[in-house]
Amino acid sequence: MNYKDLFAEIAVQAAQIENLGEVAAYIPELQRVDPLKFGIHLTTLENENFGVGDYQEKFSIQSIAKVLSLTLAFDLEDDKLWRRVDVEPSGTPFNSLVQLEYEKGIPRNPLINAGALVICDILVSRLKNPKREFIEFVRKIAGNQAINYCQRTADSEKSTGYKNAALINLMKSYGNIHNDIDVVLDFYFHLCSIEMSCQELSQHFLFLAAGGINPLNNEKVISASKSKRINAIMQLCGFYDEAGEFSFRVGLPGKSGVGGGIVAIHPGQYSVAVWSPKLNQKGNSYKGMKILEFFTTRSESSIF
Ligand code: DON
Repeated sequence: MNYKDLFAEIAVQAAQIENLGEVAAYIPELQRVDPLKFGIHLTTLENENFGVGDYQEKFSIQSIAKVLSLTLAFDLEDDKLWRRVDVEPSGTPFNSLVQLEYEKGIPRNPLINAGALVICDILVSRLKNPKREFIEFVRKIAGNQAINYCQRTADSEKSTGYKNAALINLMKSYGNIHNDIDVVLDFYFHLCSIEMSCQELSQHFLFLAAGGINPLNNEKVISASKSKRINAIMQLCGFYDEAGEFSFRVGLPGKSGVGGGIVAIHPGQYSVAVWSPKLNQKGNSYKGMKILEFFTTRSESSIF
């Protein structure tokens, strides 16, 4: 595939797609972003790199970080993990409370907020200094020391995080949160506040395209079997109640965040990240999804 020509086409296409949707407002800090920002970056297993637009600018990766917390927790817990969180698509919004009561505090999957909070609880139990050890784990994946939490975003989310507080309290009542609620929430808000650029994201997530080893620095992040399973979870759960639509239109395992970022993986080929802050009604980047659909259609590189 001639990605260079395709990325020139993407630049034209991105300017033509209407910038519909709304920037996330329920986390006040996220509203400060320029809604016209747009970037995309592709990294292949051979370390070819292609970018368009604001691909070097850092933004709040939000729920994309849930894939990294899942990766560390799965590595530490092995299959014990699945006693506390399931691997089924939810078909409900990312912050929904409704299934949790029916299912007695066991979240549908680790990528909805409830599931990510359970993963955070597990990491708080397993790590001595969760925030420090987690960011060190993230930095090591791609040998990138420039990755950090954004304290302003974490504080901002804490000031309005009522739904997450409700979710964690409900799960605590069912015995599926073992640590102090405020400690787990604080870790979760920090996790979501991590900032990366599209370039950093695509280079970072390459380990999931390469059987758990980042080919850029030979860092073994996770086993091949676990890497395969994380991709499977992203395919079915990465876009909440829009996972079917993303699968249908883009055809790759992927994960979105309310900062407007999306990362998608083609196992054996590449990792691609896109950023456009305006979100559709399901909380996923409007233009980001359109551009990824254009990208996999023109490159004929959906996994199906
Ligand atoms: O917990 C929240 O609501 C945010 N920190 C993360 C949500 C998110 O990114 C959903 N993804 N599209």
